[in-house]
Amino acid sequence: MRRSAWERPWCGSLRAENVGETVELAGWIRRRRDLGGLVFADLRDRTGIVQLVFESEMLAEGERLSPEDVVRIEGTVRPRAEGQTNPDLPTGEIEVRVTAMELLTESETPPFQVEDGTNASEELRLTHRYLDLRRPEMTANLLLRHRLVMEARRYFDEMGFVEVETPILTRSTPEGARDFLVPSRIHRGSWYALPQSPQLFKQLLQVAGIGRYVQIARCFRDEDLRADRQPEFTQIDVEASFIEEEDVFGLIEGLFARIFPLAGIEPPERFPRMTYDEAMERYGSDRPDTRFGLELVELGHLAPGCGFRVLEAAAAEGRVKGIVLPGGAALSRKQLDGLNEVVRPHGAAGVLWMKRTADSVASPARKALGEDGVLRFLDAAGAGEGDLLLIVAGAGKVVHAALGALRLHIARERDLIPEGRHDFLWVTDFPLLEWNEEDGRFYAMHHPFTAPRPGDVVRLETDPGAVRARAYDVVMDGSELGGGSIRIHSAEVQRRMFAALGIGEEEARARFGFLLEAFRYGVPPHGGIALGLDRIVMLMAGRDSIRDVIAFPKTTSGSCLLTGAPADVDPDQLAELGVRPAGKEG
Ligand code: AMO
Repeated sequence: MRRSAWERPWCGSLRAENVGETVELAGWIRRRRDLGGLVFADLRDRTGIVQLVFESEMLAEGERLSPEDVVRIEGTVRPRAEGQTNPDLPTGEIEVRVTAMELLTESETPPFQVEDGTNASEELRLTHRYLDLRRPEMTANLLLRHRLVMEARRYFDEMGFVEVETPILTRSTPEGARDFLVPSRIHRGSWYALPQSPQLFKQLLQVAGIGRYVQIARCFRDEDLRADRQPEFTQIDVEASFIEEEDVFGLIEGLFARIFPLAGIEPPERFPRMTYDEAMERYGSDRPDTRFGLELVELGHLAPGCGFRVLEAAAAEGRVKGIVLPGGAALSRKQLDGLNEVVRPHGAAGVLWMKRTADSVASPARKALGEDGVLRFLDAAGAGEGDLLLIVAGAGKVVHAALGALRLHIARERDLIPEGRHDFLWVTDFPLLEWNEEDGRFYAMHHPFTAPRPGDVVRLETDPGAVRARAYDVVMDGSELGGGSIRIHSAEVQRRMFAALGIGEEEARARFGFLLEAFRYGVPPHGGIALGLDRIVMLMAGRDSIRDVIAFPKTTSGSCLLTGAPADVDPDQLAELGVRPAGKEG
């Protein structure tokens, strides 16, 4: 009865309408139940499970089976007995009575049960990732990712975009992280860099006249890892000629309208916009989570001469801002002390709290400020009876980072994020340059090819910190899903940008000469964006870590527990490359 493998039904596909059919199925045994004279076993493939029944002449075959054995069976689909149906299972109305079985391979007892909601450690799961991926919730993430990529490719194709692959062995692309380097055997002493993004190539493709480029592109960045960062990750990378900001916004809104419904999320037709300054002032973050309130309030005007030294000092050189937690006056001393730990990693000394109770106020600053003084702060912040005001004072950057983090902490802790709500948002008007205290110089906030706003170009030399960029980020629920910009296409502006970054003509030629050279032969105005594919899938799948949506991810310390990478290499290989090991650390 051998049919083409492509015609074989999937385990999860059988329904009541298949009753009476003879089918061939293949997959993994999930579990077996012996009922004496009858064996039930669940058969699993990536689409789901179906119940197999072994009886009479097939009984002995059924009794041989253990979890994760691989079998091929032939059988007849029949309805389950009265009272045995399972409404929670798509195949729950039927079962397959096995008439022939081939035990293809036997499995040893797996190190953890291949089931959803496992309590196996992530270490064990990553070491045996092939078993982990067999778990339905993990398989579902990979399938969602596939559907998303297919839909994105269809969309961009319809919009006239062409997918072009760009090199992996290349030169450094400045995206602000450390490069992964690969030594060249042929050119001893020279190195390739893995791309932090295809940025320069996608711009060159515009000079080449491709006009609309897209790539599902792998990027490599040697940076400290977090739940939403991996050393190699994937971007939906986009670049187009003769476009402006509005064109990019419309393109990406259109894309999201196609991909998010795959996870039952319906984004609005147009996304709200917020400038970088507004995002920082109101939310203390350039990727604000707008699904809940707790907005930052300005209190700096109350600090001078208020009598509390910490606030007075901060107001003189920095900022004093706070957030109001409605009903927060009930927080205990211990809970309030705990908030200090949330802000300290961001450079703040601590949180100053003020409570308004039924007939009085409470605060560590009450003695210095007096009751009236405390009330002035509470009134200005709009804190009513039973509310809590949390204040952070210091350098502007620190105050925003600390209150931004505090806001998120409190929202999570107190469950303030409405279930099922999703907010999409464009953040615009980023500063072009960012001052670095330590190095005493400006860095490009995005990358050095981002165009300044035309009206701001005059300030490139006089007030570089005030120049705004034609850059934008797309944000969802407090996550940066993507970022991009309209690029510089004028040699003159690019030269001035390099100058503002302290990159001299020689250095510019050495690092980016090929791009500058290309721009001499007719460069169209162009711009683009890159979306973090892993992050998008993570949010669509409702997961907390991008590791859950990447088939073979690295741990937070950059190792692959499955293969053992990074690993030692043969000394001969190193000698051939002309590389001497520097000795191991730690
Ligand atoms: P950017 O550096 O903002 O822009 O990257 C774009 C998006 O990629 C995702 N991302 C990451 N995802 C997982 N792990 C990482 N380590 C990681 N780093 C970034 C984020 C981010 O928003 N060439 C420019 C784009 C452009 O200007 O067109 C670029 O790479 O979701």
